[in-house]
Amino acid sequence: MNPSSRAPLRAELKFLADLSAPLVYVPSRGGGDETEHLGNYRNHEVEIHDARAALPESDLDNEGFVLIAHRSEVIDFYSDSALESTYHPELIDLIKRVTGAQRVEVFDDTRRSSSVSNQQARGSRDPANIVHNDYTHDSGPRRLDDFFSDSPEDAARLKQRRFAIINAWRSIGAPVLDHPLVLCDARTIRENDLVAVERRGEDRIGELQVAMHDPSQRWYYFPEMNRDEVLLFKTYDSALDGTTRFTPHSSCRDPNAPDDAPARESLETRCLVFF
Ligand code: OGA
Ligand code: FE
Repeated sequence: MNPSSRAPLRAELKFLADLSAPLVYVPSRGGGDETEHLGNYRNHEVEIHDARAALPESDLDNEGFVLIAHRSEVIDFYSDSALESTYHPELIDLIKRVTGAQRVEVFDDTRRSSSVSNQQARGSRDPANIVHNDYTHDSGPRRLDDFFSDSPEDAARLKQRRFAIINAWRSIGAPVLDHPLVLCDARTIRENDLVAVERRGEDRIGELQVAMHDPSQRWYYFPEMNRDEVLLFKTYDSALDGTTRFTPHSSCRDPNAPDDAPARESLETRCLVFF
């Protein structure tokens, strides 16, 4: 991919400091509000490496993420009907091709913007500002159950085999010059550094994981992601054979970004992936 390596970003990420306070995550609804994090959190400055240069062959079952060149036919990613009619079928094909899965079901689209006025105009959410993974050992299967709530027998059958949850993240605006998505190489995080937290959504109570900081963690980002790329990352896997199950991630300020960097506009699409 991109051979010219740039110096790593040094940026602050917010980690769980300790377990001294009860933990609750209240997601923003979008439109200008902010996600709330109850608990004791602390910023750490970390080095965030250019994955284009350093990890040209990462994959979902090891690092937990992979960047793929992908030109979508969608013109307006703010159109729900275009996502439904065009983007979801594209992603389903792509994820099947990349993972070898038999079946893929899309269950969520989340748009985010780093500009509060764009959040207000579009109903988008704020970028993540805490290191987290979207699901846990328990909440991955619960998400599947909820998706198939009309047919519990299908849910029970599908849970007999391996399944995963994969997020597909892309820029839907200008190339991302600030507030990039940053990811931890999943092989460098220790299980004990991940802590389950209630996710108190308006319509559903879920559970995600937040992370403690440890110097052995290796952090990456893909500089200047554009609309013709999609970043797949795994937030749950039912397999217990050593394959990557969780990929902690967040977003950060890039201290080298130009003052007039355009707002980061992104779409993340969550998919149930059946093998
Ligand atoms: C995600 C996520 C944060 C962001 O895609 O799961 O947490 O700032 N995204 O885009
Ligand atoms: Fe997330």
